[in-house]
Amino acid sequence: MDLKNTNWAELDFSYKNTPYRFHAHWKDGKWDEGRLVTENKLSIDESAPCLHYGQQCFEGMKAQRSKDGRIWLFRPIENAKRFQQSARRLMMPEVPIELFMKGVKEAVKANADYVPPYGYGASLYIRPLLIGIGENLGVRPAPEYLFIVFVCPVGPYFKQGFKPISLKVETEYDRAAPNGIGNVKAGGNYSASLWPLKIAREEGFDEVVYLDPKEHKYFEETGASNVFFVFEGNVIATPKSNSILNSITRGTIVQVAREEFGYTVEERRIHVDEMSKFVEAGACGTAAVITPIGSMGYKGKIYKFYADGKEAGPVTRKLYDYITALQVGDVEDKWGWLEEVT
Ligand code: PLP
Ligand code: COI
Repeated sequence: MDLKNTNWAELDFSYKNTPYRFHAHWKDGKWDEGRLVTENKLSIDESAPCLHYGQQCFEGMKAQRSKDGRIWLFRPIENAKRFQQSARRLMMPEVPIELFMKGVKEAVKANADYVPPYGYGASLYIRPLLIGIGENLGVRPAPEYLFIVFVCPVGPYFKQGFKPISLKVETEYDRAAPNGIGNVKAGGNYSASLWPLKIAREEGFDEVVYLDPKEHKYFEETGASNVFFVFEGNVIATPKSNSILNSITRGTIVQVAREEFGYTVEERRIHVDEMSKFVEAGACGTAAVITPIGSMGYKGKIYKFYADGKEAGPVTRKLYDYITALQVGDVEDKWGWLEEVT
């Protein structure tokens, strides 16, 4: 990546090769201490279980600069814990919290020049990854594992930024099974979402929102974010389900909405028929941040929310402004969610 010619305001959400990444290796029951490497290509066995049987999981985090140029992570321990839950479910060795934090901080520090300056709406995306490697053929856990953390500067996940997107309420495909791995950050959930996303895009939608895989009546999440809906009277509802990812951004929204803004927040099953009562809707996640949802298409009908789907509503805007300010240290960190990279 060419730093001198980077226009931070125009960054997209794409991979860029930065100089360093962190690698740690698990073998014979233990992790090594890990190290920074410069090579962005891997050399692994053709029979590695991550390639055949999807034995892998990942995380998504961001590092951002405050006004004074310092670099901050947002709630990184939550990612470390979720990474451990994903690993357990997929029969992989957990990355100890200390090793996870060391990998993340070393990768960010070594690439500090690539953390976008304050004020451009850009950030350094951090991708921790755990893969099962080594020789293997039958369906069984891998003999060795690689923990990788690479980073790249990014702009908004949806190219229009903080502008309403349109979702297709998916009625044909599921992204996860009722008791499957929808609640862990496993690559298979994302490959399952590629085909429905392609069809939705051909139909003119930006993203897909899935319904629960058992009854197909209740909202789940999109392919890359959780969702929340706003009803009259500043009541926010967000889906409760054991087949969606437990979004750290959603947890943040829930706490900020309740404790800072005094809103009512319900974490519950949300029936698709409630859609006609939504006054605002939003997608939330590390990459998506908070993205307003302007409209949703369900069984051939389009449901529009605030300002006919053309603008973000006031609740979504207020949450976005507060949380993005909090992440760069512009408002007081009451909850102790920021961790500096020094
Ligand atoms: N749901 C899915 C499927 C995701 O990929 C993500 C992104 O990480 C999220 C939800 C949001 O989670 P978080 O807010 O922890 O980034
Ligand atoms: C994130 O928000 O960090 C994600 O992992 C979403 C992604 C699939 C781009």
